[in-house]
Amino acid sequence: MRPFSTVFWVAVILGSGVLHAAEVPVEHPPFKKDQYVHHAPTVDDLMKDQEIKPQLKKVILKGRDIFMNTQQYRGKYVFSRLSCKNCHLGEGRLNWSGPIWPAATTLPDYRGKNGHVNSLEERIAGCFSFSLNGKPPEYGSDIMLALSAYHQWLALKAPVYETHIGGRGYSSLGKDIPKDIHYVQGEKVYQAQCAICHGATGQGKSVEGKVVFPPLWGDDSYNWGAGMARVYTAASFIKNNMPLGKPGALSDRDAWAVALYVNSQERPQDPRYTGDVKETREKYFNFHQYTMYGTERDGVLLGQHDNTGAKPFLKPDALRPRTFDE
Ligand code: HEC
Ligand code: HEC
Repeated sequence: MRPFSTVFWVAVILGSGVLHAAEVPVEHPPFKKDQYVHHAPTVDDLMKDQEIKPQLKKVILKGRDIFMNTQQYRGKYVFSRLSCKNCHLGEGRLNWSGPIWPAATTLPDYRGKNGHVNSLEERIAGCFSFSLNGKPPEYGSDIMLALSAYHQWLALKAPVYETHIGGRGYSSLGKDIPKDIHYVQGEKVYQAQCAICHGATGQGKSVEGKVVFPPLWGDDSYNWGAGMARVYTAASFIKNNMPLGKPGALSDRDAWAVALYVNSQERPQDPRYTGDVKETREKYFNFHQYTMYGTERDGVLLGQHDNTGAKPFLKPDALRPRTFDE
């Protein structure tokens, strides 16, 4: 076994509803020497913790419930078929799976994506607006308070404003798509390794209205403005987390190729859309230089449409500039 591999149990709920458990080795990249490595607390730890008041425990658990099943707000705050936990595995605790607690220790801070200083609530709102193709709950609302409490509790005992954090984000593969990576190769990987769960057309799978396998593209998935729409983010997420239960199983090339394939499919419009995809790509090029939005695949211009999925509007009000100028 490699130095940083551990073994964990994965229960995969197959379409039949049968529960299969398999013991699999987790292959994750090693931490760097100067990095802070966090061990986020578990619900068991929370229950045993005498320092935390019962009223706060209740709110933390509420936040966790929203995080795990954000679909309870479908049609109100969520218009995709995704929940927070689908992209932040292990209840938002897992390294290399976008652990969520660093946001609680590093914000408020300047964020390049929207060009201003963001609070924790605004960062959470970002994932509602893009990743969930939704409309964030009001700042200061019970939902935002509960989610913030959950994030901050997961950060228990972590240093504030520490930036060298091991396993933060999805990391590991770098930002540049290797030159010889091709869509067609990605399609082969997809059909062989992913379609069994996510469906031949990326639509995912729901059983009795409950999402079992989340959709990867199409109207029910994340929109063109979501972090996961960047090929490098998806490549690293996939490399370190997919196929489910087999992190590290794909070669780097296969992870890049399948990420390119998934992110060259149509999905709901970027809420920052100006009405012209090329213009929007240029305007937000610091982001879209890493997506396939506004580029051509087989002669078709990706993202040139008014489709917002199940969401009956384009842009939630929460996406607004913030300046401290008088
Ligand atoms: C479609 C996938 C997806 C979904 C669903 C999703 N997120 Fe995220 N989230 C991301 C990506 C991608 C990032 C950026 C990671 C990076 O910087 O590389 C991110 C980052 C974050 C961060 C910042 C973490 C840090 O290191 O500072 C927080 C907090 C967060 N998400 C919370 C949420 C919450 C809460 C929800 C549900 C309301 C949610 N996310 C749903 C993909 C998703
Ligand atoms: C055994 C079933 C299974 C296989 C095979 C599988 N996935 Fe997943 N995938 C899941 C599940 C379940 C989740 C949500 C995880 C959670 O909520 O804990 C997920 C989440 C995702 C997500 C983030 C959520 C979303 O809908 O965008 C992406 C991207 C993804 N998988 C891509 C892939 C790719 C690419 C492959 C093939 C290399 C793959 N998956 C193979 C079950 C699977």
